[in-house]
Amino acid sequence: MSKSVKNIAILASGAGSNAQKIIDYFSGRRDISVRLIVSNKQDAGVLNIARAAAIDTLIVTRNSFYSSTDLLAELDKHKIDFIVLAGFLWLIPPYLIQQYPDRIINIHPALLPKYGGKGMYGHFVHEAVHLAKDAYSGITIHFVNEKYDEGSIVFQDRCEILPSDQPEDIAKKVQILEHTHYPMVIDQLVSALTL
Ligand code: GAR
Repeated sequence: MSKSVKNIAILASGAGSNAQKIIDYFSGRRDISVRLIVSNKQDAGVLNIARAAAIDTLIVTRNSFYSSTDLLAELDKHKIDFIVLAGFLWLIPPYLIQQYPDRIINIHPALLPKYGGKGMYGHFVHEAVHLAKDAYSGITIHFVNEKYDEGSIVFQDRCEILPSDQPEDIAKKVQILEHTHYPMVIDQLVSALTL
């Protein structure tokens, strides 16, 4: 018999504004559920968001994440079908990618392949875009592979940058795009999964 609910785990290490939007979007849905929030930071804001929504949380250490496959057992325990990275900055290890082929996605706050790679996250991205005087920035949602920001692209959208925009202004415009599109793209991908 096929499973009726598809379960998502969110991996996040920051404030968790995207996680919040995703949780809100799927609350009340019977077919898709956010079941687990995984973080590598004890004090990440996203953990408060998870607790407020009564979603299980898990803290991973660098050692457990890279030198064991303990996480797989936790994901299995929560019957996780799909993994969403929302501000999770560690490179995803091969054992996880092999267990979830084309079932791990990430959001990046720029138009990849520009401004990607190790160390390019959050405000560093917006500062680089600002320095380059680009006329546009945007978001990229992509499948995750063994390299930073190189998996195949699922979705992009862009926003205009005014000459007067500072990195914080770019960040705000990009965040609006993230909050608008990420939950819907996740919905499409998870809904299309055959279990
Ligand atoms: C988001 O802007 C996301 O695109 C970025 O981290 C932020 C997390 O914000 N991710 C990266 O830069 C990955 N390279 P949030 O904690 O408020 O969701």
